[in-house]
Amino acid sequence: MKKVVITGSNGLLGQKLVNLLSASPNYDVIGLSIGDDRNDTANNYKYYSIDITNKDELIKLLNVIKPDCIVNTAAMTNVDQCEKEKEKCNLLNVEAVETLVNFCKERSTHLIHISTDFIFDGKNGPYTEEDEPNPLSHYGKSKLLSEELIKSKINNYTIIRTILVYGLVDNMSGNNIVLFVKEALENKKTITMVDDQYRMPTLVDDLALACKLAIDKKAYGVFNISSNELLSIYEMSLLIADAFELDKSYIKRISTNQLNQPANRPVKTGFDLSKSIKYLDFPSFSFKERLQVFKNQLENLRF
Ligand SMILES: NC(=O)c1ccc[n+]([C@@H]2O[C@H](COP(=O)([O-])OP(=O)(O)OC[C@H]3O[C@@H](n4cnc5c(N)ncnc54)[C@H](OP(=O)(O)O)[C@@H]3O)[C@@H](O)[C@H]2O)c1
Repeated sequence: MKKVVITGSNGLLGQKLVNLLSASPNYDVIGLSIGDDRNDTANNYKYYSIDITNKDELIKLLNVIKPDCIVNTAAMTNVDQCEKEKEKCNLLNVEAVETLVNFCKERSTHLIHISTDFIFDGKNGPYTEEDEPNPLSHYGKSKLLSEELIKSKINNYTIIRTILVYGLVDNMSGNNIVLFVKEALENKKTITMVDDQYRMPTLVDDLALACKLAIDKKAYGVFNISSNELLSIYEMSLLIADAFELDKSYIKRISTNQLNQPANRPVKTGFDLSKSIKYLDFPSFSFKERLQVFKNQLENLRF
């Protein structure tokens, strides 16, 4: 049995991963997050409320748990908030990662860390794992710094880069693109979606599966995880309307420079998934296919 610590266990990926791993007898799952436990339906699972930016507390707790593997999903993920609160962002996205790295080095623990397409400038997407990063935002810079820190200090790491994550967990705390568009159209609310930013959105179940595959296979290195088709955010919203049979006329296209957001975003990201397909056995899907899975999950929740 593998003892796996999941930091940020209350988050979208964190909850999905707690559910996935704790359903199997092969893992002893321990969640760490800052608030009250939001995985109230998971069995075979322990939870500790902790601020992982508190270095001493974190090391003390990890020394008691002695995990075989740590999956670091905790992060400040709001790109504009990171731009405005750079110090706070660094504390969680960089310094807490350094604490985890130091622990993993000392104890030879496998560290799985989640990174982002925002480490790229969006001029040459889709990107392979080897392409040169050039982040445009503080969020992207903080995630790149965390990657560099890990690579410079340990060998038994997996960095999983992902893009625009959406999905459903029991206790949702944030919104995501699919729910946002669906709810707006259901309420006949006009929404504006950018037609000049291109992404490959990721169903959180696929990201959680990739983490599990990395744990099981001890797959070290950097891996790209996303869906397999590059779409503009506007095109995604049209597909969401189609999937839920909602009226597309409420969706208006807009360009990025009309938004005036604090943080710059890359124009065109997207990933080449060849390495993950080959070495992780990652099954790649289109956004359209995964929307049907998401729709089924929502329907099962309702009945
Ligand atoms: N979401 C995306 O579109 C996206 C895209 C690319 C990459 N990523 C990366 O994927 C990873 C997971 O993202 P996500 O969307 O699942 O994130 P999320 O839903 O925002 O979850 C992050 C979790 O971290 C916890 N947390 C925050 N500060 C903490 C602290 N000081 N100590 C302990 N826990 C703390 C929060 O716990 P509480 O709920 O208890 O406050 C929150 O539940 C992140 O590394 C992110 O950078 C995400």
